[in-house]
Amino acid sequence: MTKKERGRALLVDDATRAADDCGCACKASPDYEETQADPRRRVLLGGLLGWLLSPLWFGSKTARAADQDPAKMRAQPGDQLVFRLGDRKGEAIALADVVDGAKPLLGYPYDPVNDVVRKGSRLNQILVLRLPPEELTEEVRARSIDGVIAYSAICTHENCPVTGWHPEHQQFICPCHETHYDPKDGARVVSGPAKRALPALPLTVEDGFLVAADGLTGKVGKRKPT
Ligand code: FES
Repeated sequence: MTKKERGRALLVDDATRAADDCGCACKASPDYEETQADPRRRVLLGGLLGWLLSPLWFGSKTARAADQDPAKMRAQPGDQLVFRLGDRKGEAIALADVVDGAKPLLGYPYDPVNDVVRKGSRLNQILVLRLPPEELTEEVRARSIDGVIAYSAICTHENCPVTGWHPEHQQFICPCHETHYDPKDGARVVSGPAKRALPALPLTVEDGFLVAADGLTGKVGKRKPT
């Protein structure tokens, strides 16, 4: 399979100079004034050191690293979609692979620039399905390709993967607490404890394969308390 197909610390020794005058770096030294750091400077330096060693700094650094790891980043415009599971795991999902009315496929975004499947976070799982275009709301149709639509697969209640499907009602079902979402109407919550729709991933098609036309329409999964 071609790449295209694969889914795509100077310290000046002032203390030594002071010791040359009286044998120690004490107040008897004429250099005392020089060798003592400005108290305001000490406070500033101490504050900076404390901040650098703080969990906040380490935490923010870790968060930045995660943000910059292409395998953990959320879907980006231009990403392809690849199969998450099965015999074709890792292969690009073609428009023709998505069967009308069938159970939704589970995929991951693929970053063609860095040649990386964004599977470094389970929150990156994407649901892909096809429904009759005429049954989609105008807003959903605008994000679809021939009735093929895509949503985050992570429940907005408690971050479970939304893996259930009700074929008759054509609704996603979260198996954890039974939230039902309507993919025809922006994956709004039909019933259950979740309060927010699943974010959508606008689609386009390139060479027959599904590609993200834009980023996700909202934050993935459960919102952290503010
Ligand atoms: S985690 Fe999905 S309904 Fe609770």
